[in-house]
Amino acid sequence: MPQPSPAPRAAPHPVGPAFSGWLPGVDGICYGGDYNPEQWPEEVWAEDVRLMREAGVNLVSVGIFSWALLEPQEGCFDFAWLDRVIDLLHANGIRVDLGTPTAAPPAWFFHATPHARVVTRDGVTLGPGSRGMVAPSSPEYRAAAVRITTELAKRYGTHPAVALWHVHNEYGAPVSDDYSENAQHAFRRWLLERYGSLDALNAAWGTAFWGQVYGDWDHVQVPAATPTTANPAQRLDFARFTDAMLLECFTAERDAIRTHSDVPVTTNFMAAACPSTDLFRWAREVDVVSNDHYLTAADPRNHVGLALAADLTRSVAGGKPWMLLEHSTSAVNWQPRNVAKRPGEMARNALTHLGRGADAIMFFQWRASRSGAEKFHSAMLPHAGTGSRVWREVVQLGADLGRLSELRGSRVRADVAILWDQESFWAQDLEWRPSEDAVPRERVEAFYDRLWRDGLTVDFAQPGQDLSGYRLVVAPASYLLRADDAANLTAYVAGGGTLLVSYFSGIVDEHDAVHAGGFLAPLRDALGLTVEEFLPLRQGDEVGLAYGAEGRELTGTVWADDVALDGAQVVASYVDGPKPGGAAITRHEHGAGTGWYVSTRLDVESLALLMGDVYADARLAPSGLDEDLEVVRRHGEAADYLVAVNHSATDLKLPGQVAAGQATDLLTGEPVTGETPVPAGGARVLRLPR
Ligand code: GLA
Repeated sequence: MPQPSPAPRAAPHPVGPAFSGWLPGVDGICYGGDYNPEQWPEEVWAEDVRLMREAGVNLVSVGIFSWALLEPQEGCFDFAWLDRVIDLLHANGIRVDLGTPTAAPPAWFFHATPHARVVTRDGVTLGPGSRGMVAPSSPEYRAAAVRITTELAKRYGTHPAVALWHVHNEYGAPVSDDYSENAQHAFRRWLLERYGSLDALNAAWGTAFWGQVYGDWDHVQVPAATPTTANPAQRLDFARFTDAMLLECFTAERDAIRTHSDVPVTTNFMAAACPSTDLFRWAREVDVVSNDHYLTAADPRNHVGLALAADLTRSVAGGKPWMLLEHSTSAVNWQPRNVAKRPGEMARNALTHLGRGADAIMFFQWRASRSGAEKFHSAMLPHAGTGSRVWREVVQLGADLGRLSELRGSRVRADVAILWDQESFWAQDLEWRPSEDAVPRERVEAFYDRLWRDGLTVDFAQPGQDLSGYRLVVAPASYLLRADDAANLTAYVAGGGTLLVSYFSGIVDEHDAVHAGGFLAPLRDALGLTVEEFLPLRQGDEVGLAYGAEGRELTGTVWADDVALDGAQVVASYVDGPKPGGAAITRHEHGAGTGWYVSTRLDVESLALLMGDVYADARLAPSGLDEDLEVVRRHGEAADYLVAVNHSATDLKLPGQVAAGQATDLLTGEPVTGETPVPAGGARVLRLPR
């Protein structure tokens, strides 16, 4: 059987959108939210724009779910109400982020095209009456989506109020995988294009195993429910296919818009929250990267997750300014317990996004809906009206962002990168892995949290991209690691970089096939070892480690390896568990750099000891600030800016050397010298002297 050729993959360069402009006519930081005037009588609209002006709103997202009103019957359009809304906003100096309404097709569409509905893996057809329930590979859906988008682009493409196109809504949510007949046909076409022949497909999927060899393209299926686990390479390709179908829907609408409009195009991502889209790929297709972020209410440290999502968004944008297109003023309505934001929390959230590179702070939504599924979701203008705490904080935030206009366009720089490869997550998240406790996202979050606590700003990076600008690269979960990506990481180390790799990395290639030479073989040169056997632990079991010359005690959980050393120096050994005396943590010099390997799960506290030594190799040091004081720097052309957010209930101080010389507090306009207090639960934004 022929060997599969390496599967094509989008070129790793460049990272982020090609477009380097910004929204026309929006000065300063964008501030506003989703605006759904069609849910309200027209007399409310005048009050809306008056209050928007009071709150400092300069941009609203309109028409995201308006398809049924804009095209009440197939091919019959009614834009009169939208004309009036857009003209009213324009007259009041508020710009429009104009939605294409394709996340919620009208009832007539489903009536005429029932086979465009999504079918789940278990064979359930999802009904209408909700949103996001169309098969992305349906030709009828794509044609209808392009038709309404074209009509909108023709009508509003040069309207002076329109500053941005908001295509669709959150591709990949609420469902992404579709196992319908449409998907079946499209999957075969996609596979044929990718592999060219059945021989290549059989080789890539390893179909000799369990007798799955295909002799006819018509026999190839979407990986719907099977009696036992389905072919993992097939499922990995199905994840790629799903992503590709969604992206094709986006580019079709984007291209329809571009025929009639020069206004930049975005679609709102859900960085770190939507597993079905490979955002590094998507970011190359948009003009401006935008993101939606909602706190996990159950997590008391959810501001760290927020920072991770913001850093990931900036990273997929290639470091360019990005937009926070949605977050909430207070509670959402769709988590098990929808905790209201405490006073000041919304501003802390907003300023954290801003500090990490957002040049737009927007919400879902402007005015709370009285009806429908989201009536208990917070809004800028809540049900309680303008007498409410939330409204007062919204007005205050608008005024504060107005004082921060000069931050627009400034950039965040990071010395550390954490690897993020969506394909690897897709592969590792399949069934029958050595331990269900080895969860890739958990490791990414643990290393991110350690770096967050140490005050080190982090980018996320793909394993194949140019890493030479980073002092430290952390690979917490690189289960799937292509040989060329491993070569890139090895060259990074040889060139002087410090690489830290966590367990269950470098295991399979792009077809989920174990690398020739065994586990970790592609990183043997960089790390000075391979893994002979995985030694996962029983649930709840711990393994003891002796770290360094003093044998300091550490505890690992979940995982251990039987490591085959090939030049690496042992930094920590197991004292008990499945391989007492075996290497647990290693360090290896390769070329001008260093490769570290950690073969067990250390919690965030235990990681401090290891990371201290890793930082030393990378010529990095923790900031030394209080762990609850989050500080990020943005670099502008004329000045640098420091955004400091105090997440604790105690007043904290920014030491004098952080803002050395005379800085200006942009929120108060006051000069600041020396030690700067950051009040409990508060934030400071300083312009630093150059
Ligand atoms: C998503 C959607 C919005 C709204 C919010 C509620 O992000 O894009 O339309 O449903 O969730 O949190």
